[in-house]
Amino acid sequence: MKKSEFKPLDWANLGFAYRDTYCHIRYVWRNGKWDEGNLYEEPYMPIHIAATALHYGQDAFEGLKVFRCKDGVVRAFRPYENARRLNSSARRSCMAEIPEELFMDAVRRVVKANMDFVPPYGTGASLYVRPLLVGTGPQIGVNAADEFTFLILVTPVGAYYKGGLTPVRAIVVEDFDRAAPKGTGTVKMGGNYGASLLPHKIAHDKGFPVDLYLDSAEHKYIDEFGTSNFIAIDKKGAYVTPKSTSVLPSITNNGLRTVAQHLGMPVEVRPVRFDEIADFAEIAACGTAVVITPVNEIVRGEQVIQVGPREGCGPTLQKIYNAYTAIQWGEAKDEFNWLVDI
Ligand code: PLP
Ligand code: COI
Repeated sequence: MKKSEFKPLDWANLGFAYRDTYCHIRYVWRNGKWDEGNLYEEPYMPIHIAATALHYGQDAFEGLKVFRCKDGVVRAFRPYENARRLNSSARRSCMAEIPEELFMDAVRRVVKANMDFVPPYGTGASLYVRPLLVGTGPQIGVNAADEFTFLILVTPVGAYYKGGLTPVRAIVVEDFDRAAPKGTGTVKMGGNYGASLLPHKIAHDKGFPVDLYLDSAEHKYIDEFGTSNFIAIDKKGAYVTPKSTSVLPSITNNGLRTVAQHLGMPVEVRPVRFDEIADFAEIAACGTAVVITPVNEIVRGEQVIQVGPREGCGPTLQKIYNAYTAIQWGEAKDEFNWLVDI
């Protein structure tokens, strides 16, 4: 949109939905190199009808947040982790990698051009940054493209929880698998999400906001939720999260583990059997969008397992959440060097 069309948003009630901003940034890789990138006002791009992204799923994306911190400075949260993960997705899908400095420069340029959309401190809202890397060169045989497009769009998103963390019920997906043991579960390729739409809709129609996937070989171990990692606190107070060759290495999970360790908690990354669920004291889904979503009930067929408090978040996860978000908002010392000034 044009600057003259800008109206302050209802920052405290944004939700997680796409909203137009002033512009996005877009780069093209051709003949072995990335161009200088440009800012585009129109939220559309011309694309070749035989682009590999459209036909063969040559597509990967990322998600990170930019915060207007307590001291008024605008900062990105761990953007280099997203740059690295995008490059791991790029390698898996035969796309050109993006130099980390180019990635960071792109984040800075697009955020600076959209500063009006970085929500004010104290509203709980932030600017969601969505990098996308796609094959835009034409192919009719199944081959990698010889041209790629890297773009970053930004959109302001709200605090998920206004009255504190609210627990949800999860359903175990039995009729579909998310990712094979040697499949693409560890990378953020668009195809993973295309495949998740139907199970997600079925779960949603049954009244479950989140769906839990088990390992696809045996359905015996926990993998992760549809769009977030599985984390738990056991009855001895340890932070437990599944080790699996088919889950996305969540940057949030990594950060929450670091905070937990710093708070003196033991951390276990290991295969987690589904039948251990009933023994946990607290369970949550974690990811960039919401940080933590407490899960207080898990349903598998006729089996209903209740875990943790009926209302709100368990005390240990709440403590980790508070410490983590205090760093994001610049309210606590940036102990681990996670914030990068825009
Ligand atoms: N797992 C899946 C399948 C996801 O899509 C996401 C979110 O992007 C996550 C986990 C959480 O990852 P992160 O904490 O890096 O946002
Ligand atoms: C997250 O950022 O936590 C997500 O779940 C990403 C999703 C919108 C793909």
